[in-house]
Amino acid sequence: MSNSKKTWIYNLIFVAVCGGLFLFLWNAPPETTAKLPHDKDHERFMNMGKKAAEQFCDDCHGKGKIYPLPKDHPPKYRCLFCHKQEK
Ligand code: HEC
Ligand code: HEC
Repeated sequence: MSNSKKTWIYNLIFVAVCGGLFLFLWNAPPETTAKLPHDKDHERFMNMGKKAAEQFCDDCHGKGKIYPLPKDHPPKYRCLFCHKQEK
């Protein structure tokens, strides 16, 4: 096969892979992780920096506290990257 033909094929594969990736991301399900709730326990965190706010989460969501995380909770480093603060 000539070199220019090979280049063509590689380009086609590249475009196909990009297209597939794009479709995959496009079809990804909407984010379902619970947002930071709007209530008296959480309202004060809405306008706080993420790092500052996250120091308080454990007071209530730590082990043995009033609302501990479920057993199957994913790795909990940086709460607010997953549980978004939505105004
Ligand atoms: C003063 C105690 C308290 C603090 C501090 C607190 N929470 Fe909560 N949180 C609760 C309680 C109680 C519930 C369960 C009732 C409810 O949904 O409000 C809850 C529920 C939640 C939920 C589940 C909401 C849902 O829709 O199921 C998320 C997510 C959450 N908290 C995240 C956080 C994060 C992140 C922080 C730190 C920025 C935090 N909480 C700090 C008491 C607290
Ligand atoms: C990697 C993403 C991620 C991080 C980081 C994270 N969580 Fe979660 N959390 C989830 C998922 C996913 C669930 C279960 C499904 C849902 O929330 O709808 C969950 C569930 C919860 C629940 C229970 C919600 C309910 O319906 O009762 C609470 C409370 C909670 N997280 C608080 C926290 C706190 C506090 C932190 C930080 C110490 C934290 N999460 C960090 C993804 C995350």
